[in-house]
Amino acid sequence: MLYNLGDMNPSTEQSVLKNKIKLLLKPKMKEILPLMDMPEIESETESDSVAEDNDGDDEEENDDREITTSNTSNTEVVRRLRASQLTVEDSVQRPMKLRPAVSAIMRRVFAISDLHVDYKENMDIIQQWSPMDYENDALIVAGDVTDSLPLLQQTLQHLQQVFFRVYYVPGNHELWIRKPEQEKDSITKFHQIITMCKEMGVVTEPESLCVSNMAAVWIVPLFSWYSTPEEDSEDSLYIKPQNPVGEDKSHNMWMDNHLCIWPSFEGTRSKYFANLNSQTCMKQYTDPVLSFSHFLPRTDLVKPSDKELAEIETERKRLGLESAVEANKKGHINPRSFNFTRYAGCKVLEAQIRQIGSSVHVFGHQHRNKDRRVDGVRYVSHCLGYKRERAAGLVTGIEDCAPKQIWPDIV
Ligand SMILES: [Fe+2]
Ligand SMILES: [Fe+2]
Repeated sequence: MLYNLGDMNPSTEQSVLKNKIKLLLKPKMKEILPLMDMPEIESETESDSVAEDNDGDDEEENDDREITTSNTSNTEVVRRLRASQLTVEDSVQRPMKLRPAVSAIMRRVFAISDLHVDYKENMDIIQQWSPMDYENDALIVAGDVTDSLPLLQQTLQHLQQVFFRVYYVPGNHELWIRKPEQEKDSITKFHQIITMCKEMGVVTEPESLCVSNMAAVWIVPLFSWYSTPEEDSEDSLYIKPQNPVGEDKSHNMWMDNHLCIWPSFEGTRSKYFANLNSQTCMKQYTDPVLSFSHFLPRTDLVKPSDKELAEIETERKRLGLESAVEANKKGHINPRSFNFTRYAGCKVLEAQIRQIGSSVHVFGHQHRNKDRRVDGVRYVSHCLGYKRERAAGLVTGIEDCAPKQIWPDIV
């Protein structure tokens, strides 16, 4: 998504630009403004937060406080960007074209999912992430942050303050409807979330991200939902259990079946969300593509590999717990009547990942972490998960409770 100023609706241009300029240029403001022959920006204050940005009433005043230089207004910044025929993104991504002497950019891309910040212990973890560690880096958040809209907004705002750029797709938890009188249905809530993200500057569309002076990557969000075998057996990642005890016949144990409200629409839920990716999948990507979804794209990713099972055993041993094999036999880990594969993901996602030529695909949802290469694509799941899962050694590779670097590739 390029922020081509000429294509913007004039009525929304000012507010959109305010967010884009602040969120895109803020870490590099001192570096970029001089390139454009503009006065130095005044030092920022603690009140210079995105939260205040969205208050609305005193928007114009805030604009001036936040991005006005001693004698240059926001409008003047826009005019000069236009005059130079640069998009806002251009000015951030390709500073070399403007001034070769600029210092090197080395931007990493991190990923995480399933933050579940409704749990205080998880919120405490992300509150400890600091811009000291990530201010020049990007973060992919692959869904399941919370079902509360205010808490989602608060969390994303915090992540924007820690990271240079935040990319996000909603998970199934975000589409839970706890207050039907306020939230009409799960599809309406999904679009409310996307609108909120756009207003905040959290990215939910493909975007080219400069990762060094010489290189860029595309970060590509893919919306999705799972197919149950009853909805679409071809698209579903369902694996029939060998033991018939391994099914919840009433479908009662899966909370989405209680808390999502679906309006009537053509086709399956999986197809509905896959269709939202149509334009994304039509694009030609000339730099490496890092895509992400909440749900799983392949059946072979649902079951753990021998290496992943060994990692769980190692982690359980470290925690002083019995072997996972033994615990599973006793039904201590998974309820024996629950089959997650029914709700795991959809195959249409895999087709889209291949269509856009992903180098890396990040997913979440299962709370079982993975990092595998399959047919030339690296698939990464790095969920924070629940405290009880971490305590049981089931969520591996997250001992430091930090996001995982996925680019540059360090595997
Ligand atoms: Fe989750
Ligand atoms: Fe999920």
